[in-house]
Amino acid sequence: MTDSTRKILVTSALPYANGPIHLGHLVEYIQTDIWVRFQKQRGHQCTYVCADDAHGTPIMLKADQMGISPQELIDKVSQEHQRDFSGFMVGFDNYYSTHSEENQHFASLIYTALRDGGHIAKKTITQAYDPEKEMFLPDRFVKGECPKCGEPDQYGDSCEKCGATYSPVELKNAYSAVSGAKPIEKESEHYFFKLGDFEGFLRNWVDNHVQEQMIHKLNEWFEAGLQNWDISRDAPYWGFEIPDAPGKYFYVWLDAPIGYMASFKNWCDKNGANFDEYWSESSNAELYHFIGKDIAYFHTLFWPAMLEGAGFRKPNGVFCHGFLTVDGQKMSKSRGTFIMAETYLNHLRPEYLRYYFAAKLSSGIDDIDLNLEDFRMRVNADLVNKVINIASRCAGFIKKKFDGELASQLVEPELYTEAVAAGESIASAYENREYGKAMREIMAIADKANQYIDAAEPWVLAKQEGKEQEVQDCCTMGINLFRVILTYLAPVLPKVAEDAQAFLAVDDLAWNSIQQPLLSHKINKFKPLMQRVEEDKINAIIEETKEALAAAAAAAAPSPAPGPLQDEPVAETIEFPDFAKVDLRVALIAKAEHVKGADKLLQLTLDLGGETRNVFAGIKSAYNPEDLEGKLTVMVANLAPRKMKFGVSEGMVLAAGPGGKDLWILNPDEGAQPGMRIK
Ligand code: 2FM
Ligand code: ZN
Repeated sequence: MTDSTRKILVTSALPYANGPIHLGHLVEYIQTDIWVRFQKQRGHQCTYVCADDAHGTPIMLKADQMGISPQELIDKVSQEHQRDFSGFMVGFDNYYSTHSEENQHFASLIYTALRDGGHIAKKTITQAYDPEKEMFLPDRFVKGECPKCGEPDQYGDSCEKCGATYSPVELKNAYSAVSGAKPIEKESEHYFFKLGDFEGFLRNWVDNHVQEQMIHKLNEWFEAGLQNWDISRDAPYWGFEIPDAPGKYFYVWLDAPIGYMASFKNWCDKNGANFDEYWSESSNAELYHFIGKDIAYFHTLFWPAMLEGAGFRKPNGVFCHGFLTVDGQKMSKSRGTFIMAETYLNHLRPEYLRYYFAAKLSSGIDDIDLNLEDFRMRVNADLVNKVINIASRCAGFIKKKFDGELASQLVEPELYTEAVAAGESIASAYENREYGKAMREIMAIADKANQYIDAAEPWVLAKQEGKEQEVQDCCTMGINLFRVILTYLAPVLPKVAEDAQAFLAVDDLAWNSIQQPLLSHKINKFKPLMQRVEEDKINAIIEETKEALAAAAAAAAPSPAPGPLQDEPVAETIEFPDFAKVDLRVALIAKAEHVKGADKLLQLTLDLGGETRNVFAGIKSAYNPEDLEGKLTVMVANLAPRKMKFGVSEGMVLAAGPGGKDLWILNPDEGAQPGMRIK
């Protein structure tokens, strides 16, 4: 390590452990990963940590609805998240969980330091309480009619129809979204972090540590006044109990950012690194958080204030980015643009999207748009036709005519020097998160390389007598320029870079390695490094996204067939393997209940012989709940869970009939056992 080697710790926001990663999330992870790969390529000691954000009411309730423990849910989701991140080549050095010993340790330590410093206050507050579930209800879990416009089924904090904001007690005919019960008001003592104690520190700190555009927002927050922050929640709550307050738990957002420390500590312990070197108040290491602009308040106010109050170092930078739109609009389930990471990866390689995002990203907080047609054209034009083409135009001649050996000199040294010199500006663009600028500068070099090859015409020279040296010379130029370009693109295209490295037969693509051109050097056989993006692949992604939505909708709310049987369209024939994917099981209806506010649905608790599922079934017109309890029926057990207005539905019961009163669920004979697979 040299003196100029920086020690850098980088984080991306911790995704909640109750849902899949989608392309909207990936803007941030790809942005961060490119930055980290760039720092590593420059020879710095850069460590990238993340974790699942595993606590809170939504995770507790989701696990409950799925009939599994929160631990089982977060373990399952963590696997899925890590699969998707690795699919997109997001190279965390450590991926952990906020539900960890390390995190409990640091959360308690920080809380205790804040308390001892006089920064924790207690106050009794009144909150909505579900008397059936015996729990306090977060605002989003109280629903009812908007106090302003009367729209039914609105959340406890704001109306989706008229935009009014209010508190849950103001809702008319309020009900608990968890049980349907009418909430009561109940008092409880809460713990608050006195953010206002840190106003002076924060006003000073934000100056050099957040983006220009965020400073305005922060000034608004300062002007509005820094309020005490409620950091406790009452049992039952899925999180860490507050050390000196039995029955009270840290609010999920208290221990979430501390999860950055915990994940890093976990990495230090596994790698023999020194945690304090990075987190002590006097640390020389750098710390950067990449986040979405929606969670800036937590990261630019609460978090630095907590660190200050507890005697830890503060971040060198909190970098906010904007949201993702697809084809100019918010990602939409019905348009098929709410695309999951997994769905994309079923059809396209990750580097196309990494490049497209890089080309669109700047250091600002503006939203970025994934225009699907532009995506296809740009990736094909820039990467396939421009960059990869340089190598494919030159490699064959070198291999065939010169046994893979490059010439001993560069015939256009200035062109090469110019490309190498551009590295400084490109590096500074990467460093400043101006990836769009970096990509434009790299493509300008690729344009020049192609122009050079166009003019030199090695394919013409190759057919002429006595021009061998010229062919070798111009292809050597081409291959060397290709190496420079791939070196610059390596943070964005890790696998292409790895394959290019093998083709070039070089040990690495370190940023400075290009100072020396490859001369009299043997390269390997060229294999196509990247295929074009085909339109049908993009269409397939949209279709698969729509299908997943339709399947989830069917699972959640099968509506009775509208008319007589003979009017129903005949379904298309499917192949046996398609049918075999459907996991049909015998299920015991352990519980059946009305759903408050739903006129077609019953809520069923289905026992699959050890596993319990919550299913909303559109059979209310034909059945009284009490008649169903204890019956056996048949369900589709492997439909993806779907979040509905009333909760998550985890499967679908099969029913037949024209609808209304004439609707019958399937009813296996007594001998069948819950959980049995239908063959
Ligand atoms: O908004 C979110 O998705 C949060 N789970 C982000 C947490 S970031 C950090 F503070 F943990
Ligand atoms: Zn309203």
